[in-house]
Amino acid sequence: MEKRVISTELMEEDYKNESSLRPKFLKDYIGQKKAKENMKIYIEAAKARGEALDHVLLYGPPGLGKTTLAGIIANEMDVNLKITSGPAIEKPGEMAAILNNLQDGDLLFVDEIHRLNRQVEEVLYPAMEDFVIDIVIGKGAAAKSIRIDLPRFTLVGATTRAGMLTAPLRDRFGVVHRLEFYTVEELTEIILRSANVFQVAIDKEGALEIARRSRGTPRLANRLLKRVRDFAQVKYNGEITLKVANFALDLLEVDKLGLDYTDRNILLAMIDKFGGGPVGLDTLAAGIGEDSGTIEDVYEPYLIQNGLIARTPRGRVATKKAYFHFGLSFDE
Ligand code: ADE
Repeated sequence: MEKRVISTELMEEDYKNESSLRPKFLKDYIGQKKAKENMKIYIEAAKARGEALDHVLLYGPPGLGKTTLAGIIANEMDVNLKITSGPAIEKPGEMAAILNNLQDGDLLFVDEIHRLNRQVEEVLYPAMEDFVIDIVIGKGAAAKSIRIDLPRFTLVGATTRAGMLTAPLRDRFGVVHRLEFYTVEELTEIILRSANVFQVAIDKEGALEIARRSRGTPRLANRLLKRVRDFAQVKYNGEITLKVANFALDLLEVDKLGLDYTDRNILLAMIDKFGGGPVGLDTLAAGIGEDSGTIEDVYEPYLIQNGLIARTPRGRVATKKAYFHFGLSFDE
């Protein structure tokens, strides 16, 4: 029987828009070797026992394939996938209803799970641990608590910030994986695969150049591929070569390290306004009019990974590499 993907409306759109590019099975998933190898074993073992897979927590910067991996786990386990997100569930009753509607073995994917409110999160504790929910009926002295059994399900939680999960929630995940930035080689492979899905001609050098400028992130690689494809189509003969990729990516203001306008703004503010640091996150955020959470979750991880920013106990500092990237001299 065809398994279903059920999701809250907005997320369903997102999922479908990208779904032609998302690999469906582990064998087609490029990169994240450690997570992939481990998941393969856990899936095989759970299937052999005829049990639901243990709850899985995936964390790491956005765009690295957390949702894709959840979809793959559902396909590999041959179960339905239900998608929702932390901010979409406002009341404990909504979470109870979602859980109560699951079927045996179903996979519930909760994106941005760190944004669940406390009361909603508390519904999850007994659900994850004992597959039950407690519902209070009536008010005041007449209030009664009844316990409802749930089917065996698998919760896959995703978060950009594992540190923001409460300990009781974190402790209820049997499997925890941190997703890493992709290498240029892995991204090249992903771009070649996506170009094949789009039926767009591309050579290895063209794919490599897009990969180099994709900040280690498949979502960005696929987005840049689409934009470069437009330039190839309108300005050139349709094929993506190194020349076309360079032309398009320069126009898109994605630089040689893959940094965009905001990345450069962050680094240049650190250098020009704060003497290279150390500067606190909130001060930096105020300095460029950006949300501090967005800097921390979206921009900073890649800048740190790339050695452009270093974190010290007194705040962030711009490194020598950052100065050199802008052609500036660095005084030790
Ligand atoms: N498309 C997006 N992410 C991917 C991945 N990790 N492997 C293969 N194709 C992808």
